[in-house]
Amino acid sequence: MTSYDQQNNTVELTLQREDLRMKTKYAIVFICIVALVIIEKESNILSRVSDRLIQRQMPQQQDFSNITQKGSLMALKMLLSRLSGTKRDSSNYSEEEEEEQLDDSGTYSYAGGHKHVLLLATTRTGSSFVGEFFNQHGENMFYLFEPLWHVERMLTPAAEANNGTVLSGIYRDVLQGLFLCDFSPLEKFISPSPQDHVTPSLFRRESSLSLCEERVCSPVIRDVFERYHCKSRRCGPLNLTLASESCLSKQHHAIKTVRVHQLDTLQPLVEDPRLDIKVIQLVRDPRAILASRMVAFSSKYHTWKAWAQNGQVPEDDEEVKRLKGNCDHIRMSAEVGLSQPHWLRNRYMLVRYEDIALYPMQKAEEMYKFAGIPFSSLAREWILRNTQTTQKASGIYSTQKNSSEQAEKWRFTIPFTLAQVVQRVCGPTMKLFGYRFVNDEMTLTNKSISLLEERLFN
Ligand SMILES: *[C@@H]1O[C@H](CO)[C@@H](O)[C@H](O)[C@H]1NC(C)=O
Ligand SMILES: *[C@@H]1O[C@H](CO)[C@@H](O)[C@H](O)[C@H]1NC(C)=O
Ligand SMILES: *[C@@H]1O[C@H](CO)[C@@H](O)[C@H](O)[C@H]1NC(C)=O
Ligand SMILES: *[C@@H]1O[C@H](CO)[C@@H](O)[C@H](O)[C@H]1NC(C)=O
Ligand SMILES: *[C@@H]1O[C@H](CO)[C@@H](O)[C@H](O)[C@H]1NC(C)=O
Repeated sequence: MTSYDQQNNTVELTLQREDLRMKTKYAIVFICIVALVIIEKESNILSRVSDRLIQRQMPQQQDFSNITQKGSLMALKMLLSRLSGTKRDSSNYSEEEEEEQLDDSGTYSYAGGHKHVLLLATTRTGSSFVGEFFNQHGENMFYLFEPLWHVERMLTPAAEANNGTVLSGIYRDVLQGLFLCDFSPLEKFISPSPQDHVTPSLFRRESSLSLCEERVCSPVIRDVFERYHCKSRRCGPLNLTLASESCLSKQHHAIKTVRVHQLDTLQPLVEDPRLDIKVIQLVRDPRAILASRMVAFSSKYHTWKAWAQNGQVPEDDEEVKRLKGNCDHIRMSAEVGLSQPHWLRNRYMLVRYEDIALYPMQKAEEMYKFAGIPFSSLAREWILRNTQTTQKASGIYSTQKNSSEQAEKWRFTIPFTLAQVVQRVCGPTMKLFGYRFVNDEMTLTNKSISLLEERLFN
């Protein structure tokens, strides 16, 4: 044999081996597809059986398809890892890992593909804006804006005497009702009381697109003195029965609230198997929050203004204590979320206002992905319209300000003395979220110095 022949032979052999390898690969892929089909069929049967079982056992309509789908996916994963045999030998598939996987499946709920987003924030953190990311999703979304306002207004005096424990339990129960499209727990707190489940006084009804749809609009009966409750159309008082029907018909539900102060009080809600809750906590630089509140709630913050003028801030003052309390609550909630306790695994996301201002679209996409809801073109368009400076035909930029610039405005409105107070009182909170301290006024107002550390939280 010439070396040429040998070479040729080697090439031939290699080709044959390659061929064999390809065939094996195809065989494995084929087996997987067959397995997937079988599993899919089985899961269909399983879900039909479980549906029947569930209907017998539980009053609420529930759907196990989520679980069985997850189950089949897991089975497929295990099958694949066994077939390929490269990454993981089945004999070395540790019990711990299996436990981990089973554990994971345990966190899947019976919500039947419905997603429930709870947007937790405090005032002046841009929560109305972020709420719109979900409100604008489209016809598959039922969004509520601050429904707990009614509860707080009715119960705060009593709750203060009660150290807040009772109030947080009621907040939780009302949220649970609303996520299940049951308005009756909330109705007890609406004042004046709804008549036959109809009310003209739902707080900020017009902030929920789904409460202003044609189908929930009862006719405007009375005269011109009747207030209209929706921007886009003339709507009579809200019929909560219709609202509940509309809610039930929608795939996804989102509620924004600035009234829940401690994340751990929500554990029973998050663990409710009928719901698939995702909590998004929205935070912001506490110095910016104070600056913004001093502008927005000017009369309430006159003490701070006086302090800023005479440079003396009594740290034992009630106002300062309240600021500290707020910061501590926010930090403690975030610590609970970030520590990923079992009940919150894959259910908690921390988002900073400043990151949303810098990358609104990217952050919105991340939130949707986290929530397990497909990002919609309607939401995308709304964000585009409301974040970018719009270029007019003439080529001149409009006066609409760019959101990352807006996010830094506070640095020029907060007196340095007050920034220092916030840093002292809210230090641990600022550190946790990556907000840089400033030691002099020059740094505070020098825009080329960023006060934001880059952080990944989840
Ligand atoms: C699994 O097998 C690999 C390689 O054989 C080894 O490095 C690894 O330590 C094993 N893992 C366990 C959990 O036994
Ligand atoms: C609030 O009061 C309840 C009983 O009234 C008590 O069990 C609880 O420990 C108190 N919580 C705090 C934070 O003081
Ligand atoms: C509210 O809507 C429900 C469901 O359509 C209807 O039965 C009820 O009569 C309405 N209530 C009023 C006061 O119009
Ligand atoms: C918004 O303002 C920031 C800071 O001034 C700047 O870096 C960014 O390019 C601006 N974005 C747009 C879209 O104008
Ligand atoms: C702002 O900070 C930058 C970077 O530290 C520095 O170069 C610049 O001189 C500062 N500007 C003023 C006005 O202090």
